[in-house]
Amino acid sequence: MDKDIYDKIVKKKEFSEIPIEDVERIWNSFDSKDLVDEERIKKVRDLLRIIYSGFGGRKILVWKNKSAEEILKKHLSTRERYDYYEEIYERLLKSFGKSKELNIIDLGSGANGFSYDFFKELGYNVTYTGVEALGQLVNITNLFFKTNKIKGIVYHKSLFEKDKVIEMINRAKKPKIIFMFKVIDALETLERNYTLKFLESIKNSGADKIVISFATESWLKRKKFFVQRTWLINFLKDNFEIIDDFTLGGERYLVFTNQLYVK
Ligand SMILES: C[S@@+](CC[C@H](N)C(=O)[O-])C[C@H]1O[C@@H](n2cnc3c(N)ncnc32)[C@H](O)[C@@H]1O
Repeated sequence: MDKDIYDKIVKKKEFSEIPIEDVERIWNSFDSKDLVDEERIKKVRDLLRIIYSGFGGRKILVWKNKSAEEILKKHLSTRERYDYYEEIYERLLKSFGKSKELNIIDLGSGANGFSYDFFKELGYNVTYTGVEALGQLVNITNLFFKTNKIKGIVYHKSLFEKDKVIEMINRAKKPKIIFMFKVIDALETLERNYTLKFLESIKNSGADKIVISFATESWLKRKKFFVQRTWLINFLKDNFEIIDDFTLGGERYLVFTNQLYVK
């Protein structure tokens, strides 16, 4: 992809900080279609808008003076989860106990870093590391962490920068748990079966648990379509041990491990 084209695509503020690797991947996905550059740029932007969170960048900037609760209730994914946070986190974390420091690595973290207070309220000692492609979400979350003296950081990276992300996961101290909440659709849109490749690579990262979630209802139509995800579930059965599987607030959580799991 020419630099000129990249510059044109990211000229809009909401896209300005999406890593070039991801933009290029989307650009290449329209390669075979007979489109002139202007049409192709429009298609790339439309897809970027769907994949990266579904709200405009300018809106994020006005989040600056908002409380964590207000922000969680603004972002689509966290809004739907808001009433269930305590129940979900307790269910996911209870096996770790509350005395030890626990590393949470949140991949495609969106606005989820703003839910840190729920860990505190439940009594967990959490160090939070997020990875997010949308720069403005990264900045606003890091500002929130700094202002509230929270042990957390979000890195501005794409999950397609696999080696770097895996290295970061490997480096994190145990016990550690990886969250991949509502992000696999974005990954699969850009590269089919990338989730599986990615999971293969984190198999030996020492993660005690990995949690994948996805919506059981359509984002737009609010109509239940019960995604089967057989490809994912079969892969997990073959390569990991599924230790929990539950649905809350229209979101299904698959929890798995490749460690010898002692409940
Ligand atoms: C539907 S939102 C979910 C956010 C968060 N995990 C949650 O459930 O609250 C998907 C997030 O993944 C991010 N994302 C999508 N593709 C990504 C990639 N390749 N690398 C890093 N982040 C990505 C988007 O920008 C967006 O913030």
